[in-house]
Amino acid sequence: MKIAIIGTGYVGLVAGACFSDSGNTVTCIDIDRKKTDALKRGEIPIFEPGLETLVKRGVAEKRLYFTSTYAEAIKEAEIIFLAVGTPPLASGEPDLSYLKAASEELGRSMNGYKIIVNKSTVPIGSHRTVAEWIAPHTSHPFDVVSNPEFLKEGTAIEDFLKPDRVVIGTEKEEVYARMADLYAPFVRQGNPIVWMDPISAEITKYACNAFLATRISFMNELAVLCEQVGGDIEEIRRGMSTDVRIGKHFLYAGAGYGGSCFPKDVQALMATARKQGIPMGIVSSAEAANARQKRHLPTKIKNHFGPRLDGKTFGVWGLAFKPNTDDMREAPALTLIDELTAAGAKVRVFDPVAMDNAKKMIGEKATFCNSSYEVLESSDALVVITEWNEFRHPDFERIKNTLKQPVIFDGRNVYNPAQLRELGFTYYGIGRR
Ligand SMILES: NC(=O)c1ccc[n+]([C@@H]2O[C@H](COP(=O)([O-])OP(=O)(O)OC[C@H]3O[C@@H](n4cnc5c(N)ncnc54)[C@H](O)[C@@H]3O)[C@@H](O)[C@H]2O)c1
Repeated sequence: MKIAIIGTGYVGLVAGACFSDSGNTVTCIDIDRKKTDALKRGEIPIFEPGLETLVKRGVAEKRLYFTSTYAEAIKEAEIIFLAVGTPPLASGEPDLSYLKAASEELGRSMNGYKIIVNKSTVPIGSHRTVAEWIAPHTSHPFDVVSNPEFLKEGTAIEDFLKPDRVVIGTEKEEVYARMADLYAPFVRQGNPIVWMDPISAEITKYACNAFLATRISFMNELAVLCEQVGGDIEEIRRGMSTDVRIGKHFLYAGAGYGGSCFPKDVQALMATARKQGIPMGIVSSAEAANARQKRHLPTKIKNHFGPRLDGKTFGVWGLAFKPNTDDMREAPALTLIDELTAAGAKVRVFDPVAMDNAKKMIGEKATFCNSSYEVLESSDALVVITEWNEFRHPDFERIKNTLKQPVIFDGRNVYNPAQLRELGFTYYGIGRR
């Protein structure tokens, strides 16, 4: 099939690379010309394991193209994906200005019937809004499908090539059939393509993210309770996750969830509910618990060192909101660094891939180091905020000898508390004994 994808970010680029890898001809469109030029040269603008190989293969085999202009790509395409960003406004509602601009430009470039697929995460009813934005700019017929994306940054390629399920929201059987055909190579092992109406598809996306965020917040609240009453959240997690009704995913207590999706989508769902006058207490509480949790680790640091941290330096391992990505959006590291520096501390940081993105967001607030061990020099304590694999088995003797004081704040529960205490560290996890 011939496909166009509008928006070449974490979702659009991964989708483009994966669709081209299954034999389709794909053109990725982005208004950011620097990005499309770099991609044409084979430079990948984001860190995502496995992506570079697929992009290079698609380009070399002339199945994957990049452009900053719509006309040609839209004319040739049978199916056009919208994958532009929908970042949150101050109100919590998503900013739809990128989606509107993309829809209008798409409408102007149409030369015949098109299937238009909304892959951006959008407010409920947006398939109709997108159609209303397109219609004044074209005389050609089209259908708008809702096809939310469930990939996870860090494992995006695997998630896209082997999805748990694909959700397709359309009322028309023939449109569903085309979409199912496109996705068939990815569901050969029998994972379902779930066909539903577009509104239900839009809600499904928000429901998944809000539910997963709620699981994390639930565990984080229990972890804080454990710290007061003496339980160990890791033992509790193991006790819970073996219950098949609960399952093992997204039950890890830590420094709070971040990223471009959970915080934004939870807020968007709350904003929709507010508009409709529907109480959504569970989701609102998950969001409030997460805001508290992001401040929990800095609070523990202040409980140890005192409320003012002047003259103290903290070495921070990790910046990205989770491992295997360079995405810094809503990362708990941002709250940590804000709270520590506001209390007078200095902060030294290292992340294997998110340093460039972090520099844009925190600039002078931190000293960016070249390695995890350089971070420790002249630091009073180590704080782990992203559980990159390379931080899991460090040289603890070296850490102890380099830090001014052998203190570790483990915001992701990666270490064994008993082992670290035996090695002579003062250790703080989240909800650990
Ligand atoms: N990142 C994720 O893990 C993830 C997962 C599932 C769903 N989503 C959703 O997918 C959508 C895209 O997210 P993302 O993380 O890929 O965003 P992103 O910010 O990484 O990428 C968006 C891209 O769209 C481009 N763009 C903006 N306006 C444009 C226009 N008018 N024409 C062409 N290109 C334009 C931008 O230049 C940018 O490259 C969002 O709605 C998001 O909620 C994201």
